[in-house]
Amino acid sequence: MPPLKLPKGAIRPRPAVLAMAPYSPPTSGRAGNLRLDFNENTVGCSPKSSSSSRPTSPPATSPSTRSTPPPKKPSRATSTSRPNSSFFTNGTDEAIQVFINTYIDDGQEVLVLKPAYAMYRFYAEVAGAKITEVAYPQPSMEFPLQQVLDRITPQTRAVILSNPNNPPGPA
Ligand SMILES: Cc1ncc(COP(=O)(O)O)c(C=O)c1O
Repeated sequence: MPPLKLPKGAIRPRPAVLAMAPYSPPTSGRAGNLRLDFNENTVGCSPKSSSSSRPTSPPATSPSTRSTPPPKKPSRATSTSRPNSSFFTNGTDEAIQVFINTYIDDGQEVLVLKPAYAMYRFYAEVAGAKITEVAYPQPSMEFPLQQVLDRITPQTRAVILSNPNNPPGPA
């Protein structure tokens, strides 16, 4: 496989991710058939969904999201006009997991806040990351910006911040 050309400024995924073969499901000969081996949704999406996010194929053959490219025109709820900058996941938890799986390798350093939403640390630990924690000061719970900056080193692979955070709330 030729080496993947990343867009300028893109963060390099883990070598294992770069070496992966793209998923190419057996899609031929499916039109008009109801096979259910792709976990198809037989009833289509909710009529309340925006027309721009509706699958283009008929419900009986609409494949799972993993086998279709994202819609060209993301929902009006998102402010971006660039389809490639949208990332469709099953809740934010999956986005966090995909981010960690894509970029964090075993032994790499990940900086998280404490307290913070538990899944940042959880998925980073599953990936074998070395966790650095910066604690919110007590009792003010003000965002510890200087402490975060001080703990970033050339070994830091990711700094995971969320706003609003859970449980501290907005920064
Ligand atoms: C800060 C933060 N990020 C992400 C999530 C995950 O959200 P979702 O329900 O979209 O997976 C939560 C859920 O409580 C959260 O508090």
